[in-house]
Amino acid sequence: MIDLRSDTVTQPTDEMRKAMAEALVGDDVYGDDPTMNRLEELAAKKMGKEAAVFVVSGTMGNQLAVMTHTKRGDEIILGKYSHVVRYECGAAAALSQVSFCQVDNPNGFIYPEDAANGFRGSDIHFPKTALLCLENALAGGRVVPLEIMKAASSAAHERGVPVHLDGARIFNAALSLGIDVKEIAACADSVMFCLSKGLCAPVGSILAGSKAFIDKARRNRKMLGGGMRQSGVLAAPGIIALEKMTLRLGEDHENAKYLARKLQTLEYVECSPEETEINMVFFNVTKPGFDPAAYMHHMMKNNIKVSGEISPGRYRYVTHNNITKQDIDLVIDCLKEIAS
Ligand SMILES: Cc1ncc(COP(=O)(O)O)c(C=O)c1O
Repeated sequence: MIDLRSDTVTQPTDEMRKAMAEALVGDDVYGDDPTMNRLEELAAKKMGKEAAVFVVSGTMGNQLAVMTHTKRGDEIILGKYSHVVRYECGAAAALSQVSFCQVDNPNGFIYPEDAANGFRGSDIHFPKTALLCLENALAGGRVVPLEIMKAASSAAHERGVPVHLDGARIFNAALSLGIDVKEIAACADSVMFCLSKGLCAPVGSILAGSKAFIDKARRNRKMLGGGMRQSGVLAAPGIIALEKMTLRLGEDHENAKYLARKLQTLEYVECSPEETEINMVFFNVTKPGFDPAAYMHHMMKNNIKVSGEISPGRYRYVTHNNITKQDIDLVIDCLKEIAS
């Protein structure tokens, strides 16, 4: 099966499965799991932060950050198209009882003036601005230049507002920018990244920050029922994800460009390879009467799993460890069949 729906579909590698079976474990709520302790130390070091805590998902990492940075009734500044706003079930309102000041730039970037304009100041009528949430890479696949992130972060810090970074795909962003992840993470007080997407670990994300922040987040994680016991079996593939799988993301980026260039040549397809910055390819289908359900059915019949429309006429493919150039050629042949 060729699965282009997301990089979340990646299978753990054989090495990961072996490491899971052999992991030394202990009760992590007591701090006794040596493999988890190793993963959290390694993750903190990679991000250039003092400490880190393992969480079950990127959503949980983001929500734990919001909860730990804010108080009930606070407001947070973030992008209208960000994952926290669009795809986390309104959890920040439900769990942390904060409201959103949404930045509505079509490219999804947050500029320093957005942070400055969103800041509420001390008027008694206003909620307190408690957090700026940045994202890189964006959920929409684009990468935010480091200078813009730095400037937005400084604008928040100058006003005493901390910054959280949703870095679900921070390693993809760093690769695309040609810099170390630490440089991106340095823009934020806390950073979340995922082990279970392009890095192929079966479960888990990391929240990193100062020791005091992570101590507080660890307590909030427990409150949410996220304290785990012999979780070294999940940390073991996470260590491989960090040490080895980060090194192969370039292949996914190359394959995404290859796919984008091939899509660009197809009749009824609009795709811009120059906008393909990580492992995500977005394209529009212009064929009159094109039926998304019939398209998905035809692809499935050819053992290709794809997502439906993300907005009218717009589609996304994601490359990852289980997608090869030959797979991409098969996908293109299948699309040609549909077009004809
Ligand atoms: C930018 C971004 N943030 C957060 C998440 C949430 O991760 P999870 O699906 O592990 O909750 C995702 C998931 O795709 C994402 O793309």
